[in-house]
Amino acid sequence: MQTLSVKVARKILEADDIVSFELRPVDDVQLPPFSAGSHVDVQLRSGLVRQYSLCNHSDETHRYVIGVLRDPLSRGGSTAMHELQEGDVMQISQPRNHFPLVHARRSLLFAGGIGITPILCMAEVLAHAGKNFDMHYCTRSPAKTAFRDRINNARFGRHVHFHFDDGDAAQKLDLELALADPDPDTHLYVCGPGGFIGYIADGARDRGWRDDQIHFEYFAAAQPDPATARSFDVKIASTGRIIHVPEDTSVTMALSNGGIDIPVSCEQGICGTCLTRIIEGEPDHRDHFLTDAEKARNDQFTPCCSRAKGGILVLDL
Ligand code: FES
Repeated sequence: MQTLSVKVARKILEADDIVSFELRPVDDVQLPPFSAGSHVDVQLRSGLVRQYSLCNHSDETHRYVIGVLRDPLSRGGSTAMHELQEGDVMQISQPRNHFPLVHARRSLLFAGGIGITPILCMAEVLAHAGKNFDMHYCTRSPAKTAFRDRINNARFGRHVHFHFDDGDAAQKLDLELALADPDPDTHLYVCGPGGFIGYIADGARDRGWRDDQIHFEYFAAAQPDPATARSFDVKIASTGRIIHVPEDTSVTMALSNGGIDIPVSCEQGICGTCLTRIIEGEPDHRDHFLTDAEKARNDQFTPCCSRAKGGILVLDL
């Protein structure tokens, strides 16, 4: 896919450990259009690629805005992003959308922490279209709440409910109330840490919401439990070669160590770049890219994070 050259036009501290970047085209051209929920792949100097949701209004073609949390467990991506300065130039992908809004009578938006980025764009678009929606924004504290002024000053501010972990009980998210009406023409969107998504999505299912009404986007693959991590082998179908995958090594890394490179991007089971066909064996899916139905077929997996349930996987390589 063709990449875009953009420069950091503005870098703003939005909250503790969260900065936003306004990215403008290097040449005086319009940026490709995008829809709410889209993200771009950002290529960092270190060679890492990271995905960031676009959080400006999707009608804008002169800039993209992304928000980046400095992750204390960063493998280099968020730290490198925070070191960028205004004027720096970088390559990004064209926007892609795995988290689109669907046409519905009403929308319910839930953001946890930095999960606000795609949700904020959705709120802008829904408000602009005069749609019926409510947004719940959950963070640890006001100091960790990015884009608070932008939301408070927005036309849609009255649709937004802030919930702070360190606030009083009255302002906490009341899931019973928020999800009380599983109206068939209401759709629910959730973005944030895995635990937050699980809390909202499971809460919705328990209250009678259909799966096709619940939309979510993860930022990272499920972390393997070190206590249950185990090694296995992969067999390259075209050559018969067997490569051992130690318990602390990903399949892509083990293959790369053996001189077989599979293209990767996010390395977290989100983008699908590394998707590989399986000829034999049962994968242990750890990604958020494949649908449940695709996972159940067990004929492909994401070797950047997924593993094997048995002793061997035969890969179509
Ligand atoms: Fe993104 Fe594997 S590299 S899913």
